[in-house]
Amino acid sequence: MKLVFATNNQHKLDEVQKITAGHTEIVSLAAIDCHDDIPETADTLEGNALQKARYIKDKFGYDCFADDTGLEVEALNNAPGVYSARYAGPGHDSEANMKKLLREMEGMENRKARFRTVIALILDGKEYLFEGIVNGQITKDKRGTSGFGYDPIFMPDNHTKTFAEMGNDIKNTISHRAEAVKKLSAFLSTLSE
Ligand code: IMP
Repeated sequence: MKLVFATNNQHKLDEVQKITAGHTEIVSLAAIDCHDDIPETADTLEGNALQKARYIKDKFGYDCFADDTGLEVEALNNAPGVYSARYAGPGHDSEANMKKLLREMEGMENRKARFRTVIALILDGKEYLFEGIVNGQITKDKRGTSGFGYDPIFMPDNHTKTFAEMGNDIKNTISHRAEAVKKLSAFLSTLSE
């Protein structure tokens, strides 16, 4: 089976291809000559993932899937959530986003947070959603240099290192995205049996 993944992020593509190898061929937006700035204007992760997948299906006709991820902080009523990339402004500046989050959480004892990824799949005219969650804590300071986004301030439960300290190899086995992709992969593998 062949599916389009609505991304041009090579790291995400590599990660998904590794997990789905053997039963599904995954291609990126570049492979279907899509260079559009796909709208993500919904106010939920589910809404954004569906919006991106439907855009590709409607405009290019391919079965496809899209993902959206947010960091949900319990004490902030699940903010920044769907606005994680733009928390400190439209610039998608990770340093500014982390600085803002640490400032908002100054003095807060409840540091519970989770990363949540939603994948929307459109296949044979039907829509499916897959969710991956990793629970953890927001640290009081930045720690570590690997990864991206909020990795230096997120420490997953049952670990003593932040995502940025543990490195991508370990992170990618336990991450929210990996959990969602594993569910997608398990579903796709049953179709090719
Ligand atoms: P996206 O939906 O994968 O583009 O993620 C939206 C935003 O969430 C990113 O711009 C990051 O700020 C944050 N984010 C998503 N995944 C991760 C992660 O694995 N580590 C740290 N931050 C992440």
